[in-house]
Amino acid sequence: MTVSAAPTTAMSRVLIAGATGFIGQFVAKASLDSGRPTYVLVRPGAATSPSKAEGLISDRENMEKLLKVHEIEIVISAVGGENVLDQLGLIEAIKAVGTIKRFLPSEFGHDVVRADPVEPGLNMYKEKREIRRFVEEYGIPYTYICCNSIASWPYYDNKHPADALPPLEHFKIYGDGSVKAYFVAGTDIGKFTMKTVDDVRTLNKSVHFRPSSNFYNMNELASLWEKKIGRTLPRVTVTEHDLLAIAAANIIPDSVVAAFTHDIFIKGCQFNFSINSPNDIEVGTLYPGEPFRTLDECFNDFALKLKNNNKDVGSHGNATPNHVVESLAISAPCVVCDKKISLFAGI
Ligand SMILES: NC(=O)c1ccc[n+]([C@@H]2O[C@H](COP(=O)([O-])OP(=O)(O)OC[C@H]3O[C@@H](n4cnc5c(N)ncnc54)[C@H](OP(=O)(O)O)[C@@H]3O)[C@@H](O)[C@H]2O)c1
Repeated sequence: MTVSAAPTTAMSRVLIAGATGFIGQFVAKASLDSGRPTYVLVRPGAATSPSKAEGLISDRENMEKLLKVHEIEIVISAVGGENVLDQLGLIEAIKAVGTIKRFLPSEFGHDVVRADPVEPGLNMYKEKREIRRFVEEYGIPYTYICCNSIASWPYYDNKHPADALPPLEHFKIYGDGSVKAYFVAGTDIGKFTMKTVDDVRTLNKSVHFRPSSNFYNMNELASLWEKKIGRTLPRVTVTEHDLLAIAAANIIPDSVVAAFTHDIFIKGCQFNFSINSPNDIEVGTLYPGEPFRTLDECFNDFALKLKNNNKDVGSHGNATPNHVVESLAISAPCVVCDKKISLFAGI
């Protein structure tokens, strides 16, 4: 197969599983931007594929073949929370091949060993912990990306909140709104993830994203958005009890998101532990000259989208949330069908 995105210098060859997903698209774009030969694994439906099994990471035999044929050195998985255990086949394949220099399993959130959400969020973390256990037992070189929250309004019922504008009618504030969290732009999740993949300092470490410029509580987030839209909105309290009741309803994925929301904005799971152990490293200390997009800038983007959608942001009208539609087309070769797969990275 030919790789049209080939770089001029020899760089590690990257395979991304889940590149059509929300987080995976940011990572795929950043990988291409970094100049690395980048391959994506795409499941049937998104592209033509010879057989259903060939796009599945759970198929150990086929994954082993693909890793070998394409001489993959770095494997990044961004499969969704519902498919975490599918990575077991991929891990077996990585172990069998024995030449993978770095594996990044699908984490991209909290430190799943430290955070302790209620069910059904806890079940997802148990599965991610299980994946970590296999990776470590097999001696696979790894990096765990603990990037905290995506920079957007943290809706308790939306697993991809960066796809939606912040509120335009009223804010739902969790608890007293004083518990802080770290908010990271999707593009920065991609950019810094790709910086870690062949950095010797991140070998067998959890990399924590804690940009001090983006450490906000709900009340501060609401004020920031009010400044952008030029008006104040009513605040409605969503209590701890409310969040626990939504989690207990066990409606997937809403209850999972509510469980995480409770862990973040009631319990403070993103900062209630120190990252001083030898296995932890904070991304800002690794790349001090590399700025994060500020939450202020990210909210400017949302305000611009709102303006472009011809909403009257300066009035007290009944504007309703709109989905962010702008995205950036990228493409990378698929290891299954050999074709270039078009992906879209949103803001
Ligand atoms: N920090 C945050 O704010 C945040 C937000 C969201 C997610 N996350 C985390 O990020 C990770 C990715 O989640 P996401 O929401 O981005 O996922 P997503 O949007 O649901 O996308 C999942 C991707 O994985 C692919 N996939 C699923 N099962 C597969 C399999 N067996 N074989 C091959 N490909 C498979 C999907 O392919 P198809 O296109 O064929 O379905 C899709 O490309 C998860 O660990 C999640 O917990 C973090």
